[in-house]
Amino acid sequence: MKILAIIGSGRKKGNTSTIASMLLKRINELAIAEDEQIQVEKLFLVDYELKHCLGCRACMDRGEDKCPLKDDLTKIKAKIDEADAVIFGSPVYIDNVSSMMKALIDRLAYICHRQEFYKKFALVYSTSGGSANKHTNRTMAGALLSWGFNLIGTAGFIIKHHNSGLEIEEKYSKNLDRLAKKIYVSVFDELYLKPSILALAMFRLQQKERADPKKAHPLDYKYWKEKGWKKQEANYYIEHQSSKIKILLSIILYKTISMIFVDS
Ligand SMILES: Cc1cc2nc3c(=O)[nH]c(=O)nc-3n(C[C@H](O)[C@H](O)[C@H](O)COP(=O)(O)O)c2cc1C
Repeated sequence: MKILAIIGSGRKKGNTSTIASMLLKRINELAIAEDEQIQVEKLFLVDYELKHCLGCRACMDRGEDKCPLKDDLTKIKAKIDEADAVIFGSPVYIDNVSSMMKALIDRLAYICHRQEFYKKFALVYSTSGGSANKHTNRTMAGALLSWGFNLIGTAGFIIKHHNSGLEIEEKYSKNLDRLAKKIYVSVFDELYLKPSILALAMFRLQQKERADPKKAHPLDYKYWKEKGWKKQEANYYIEHQSSKIKILLSIILYKTISMIFVDS
């Protein structure tokens, strides 16, 4: 089992990094207590060359290997591929994610056409000096959900710019315990087999776009067809253990979202 924390702050000893360390330490302790093997890793985006998306759509229309930008994206993507759960942490910069985190999200945008991460979990958090973290978390959560990730949760940490780990522990210790436990349990109990109502609804939203030959780009259509997700009876990326009532609720949610956001 592997848990990766991707940190979108240039301050390697800053708040976002400290929170990631605290989460990973707790996850490690849970594994030790249960005599389980786990690997944890921190990845600082600042250590990688990540160019801005040029918007050419080569990745979306012709395949991700056709991206004209040559940099470290594939190295970062390989780290995500290896992980069972990924923690995405960003500082709030003017009410949104840092430019490093946004660059990563934009460069991986093709995945919302051809979902790969449906067996992985994600936790999203942001740290800020004072303002609400909701908008920042929504930027990350929205992308990750559309990539197929099972979103464990979102969290906001309001912390002074210069802060000792001690103060963070004092203020957020219980919340960090709860989040670490949630990640641990999700991974070890393979809870991707029990997707949330939102995840099931997200699948249907994608299916509407990607599995229709009149609407979908040929590359996406081919991918969805090969995966078997195009079939009318397919209601998620994998065989899952959701109850009938959960599936029904996801259909209601899907129809509501379609009506409010997509069809308007
Ligand atoms: C460029 C910049 C923009 C910021 N914008 C906001 C903001 O809009 N709202 C807020 O509450 N804090 C803002 N902050 C404060 C940071 O979000 C906060 O200090 C964060 O915890 C820093 O994380 P780090 O220590 O991991 O770099 C900003 C900081 C910087 C450097």
